Amino acid sequence: MSTVIKRKTTPPIPKEKHWLIGHVGMMKVDAIGMVKNFIERYGNIFSLSVPFYKVVIVSKPEYARYVLLDNNKNYTKSIAYELLKPLLGLGLLTSEGDFWKQQRKLVQPAFHKRKLDELTEMMIERSEHWVDRIDAHAKKGEAFDVLPEMTALTLDIISKAIFSKGVEDKAQIVGEQITLLNEYTIEKIHQPVRMPDSIPTPFNRKARVSMALLDKIIYEIIDERRAEGVSKDDLLSMLIDARDEETGESMDNKQLRDEVMTIFLAGNETSSNALSWTLYLLSQHPEHEARMVAEINEKLDSGMPLTFNTVNEFQYVRQVIEESMRMYPPVWMVGRRTIAEDEIGEYRIDPKTNVLVPIIFFHHSEQFWEQPERFMPERFAQEKRNAIDRFVYMPFGGGPRFCIGNNFAMLEMQIIIITLYRKFTFKLKEGFKVEAEPLVTLRPKYGVQMVAERRA
Ligand code: HEM
Repeated sequence: MSTVIKRKTTPPIPKEKHWLIGHVGMMKVDAIGMVKNFIERYGNIFSLSVPFYKVVIVSKPEYARYVLLDNNKNYTKSIAYELLKPLLGLGLLTSEGDFWKQQRKLVQPAFHKRKLDELTEMMIERSEHWVDRIDAHAKKGEAFDVLPEMTALTLDIISKAIFSKGVEDKAQIVGEQITLLNEYTIEKIHQPVRMPDSIPTPFNRKARVSMALLDKIIYEIIDERRAEGVSKDDLLSMLIDARDEETGESMDNKQLRDEVMTIFLAGNETSSNALSWTLYLLSQHPEHEARMVAEINEKLDSGMPLTFNTVNEFQYVRQVIEESMRMYPPVWMVGRRTIAEDEIGEYRIDPKTNVLVPIIFFHHSEQFWEQPERFMPERFAQEKRNAIDRFVYMPFGGGPRFCIGNNFAMLEMQIIIITLYRKFTFKLKEGFKVEAEPLVTLRPKYGVQMVAERRA
């Protein structure tokens, strides 16, 4: 008598789909709503129908942990990261395997606490400089979009962190071109039919000119720095000087370019969105704003200096930012792709399946949070913080590919919020509706129009 081994099946596919394009149309209209709806009806693991690709969505902390951490060796990044490769090459965000591991070791020291301590003064100085810009808006009493302001400020900070001084004009062009190329990437996601990059459409030509200019400038900066032969106190010098412990190898110019570009983009787009959402949420919750401002004033009025060592004393500021990233996680979904066949729960996952972890769902689920739609910074109070599962709250991802810049980002955002709210309050422009748009990051679709008022 032969034994029949029953093969596990792949996760169920929701029935509501288009005969040709499957779930793609629904995803374009309202990706978050669709995922939420399917989770409610099909449970915490299901497949999506996407032409040419296998896609599975998991929404259980154990599954997220399995994919991102426990069995991460069987996963590469998902297909979506391919979109970023023309811009970022093989930088940390988009590289894989042993190559990524070696690069992570080389780049890590640039984000050590000692380095962040050295960057704090610059972050404060640039944030204070921004007070003048905001003041110009406040004096006019006009509404302005805070998203481009936060983008410009975080670009200013990241470019000073990477290049320090002496290349301000070039750094500005780098910032402008990266912002532009990021916009192109987003536009490309929106295109109904995506033309290969090699076809010289007007769109692709624009992107290519921008990329060529960006590369030229970054290589110039690297060449000049190498020619100077002097190590500066910035991330670029740290990356140029970094040596593999065993082989003594360092990065060539192409790799330096990819890492610089990655840090520029990853360190800007995410933080500027998080800050814009925080300003918006505070404008909708004056009681929490008042509590935060009371903390800022009490500490600063008592003579406490704002430094790397004191920034975490502003506990409520940290709680506000953490709660803001719970409600509006700038990276709303992360994705991986199976190498070999795998099993998740009771299902079979085929090789080359894109397994997506919708962070935003974890952050808004009643399973894990009391009144998830309410803005309650109190849930991140120190005594409660440790009880939060790191695969339920994961604005910076999880596992070995966890955000390398998380401490940089928290420090920068805390400093910016403290500096701005010491001087201003921000009110949403009357009648302005804020809408979230889930693209590469979760952005306010039409920006956030606000009026700044100086505190008396
Ligand atoms: C609010 C701000 C930020 C958020 C929410 C955020 C979020 C994330 C997330 C979720 C990932 C993991 C992606 C994945 O698993 O596929 C990631 C990776 C990464 N982030 Fe951030 N990030 C932020 C700020 C920064 C900053 C300031 C920098 C650099 C200065 C940075 C650099 C990176 C890099 C290089 C990676 C790739 C790490 C690797 O794969 O080894 N991020 N970030």
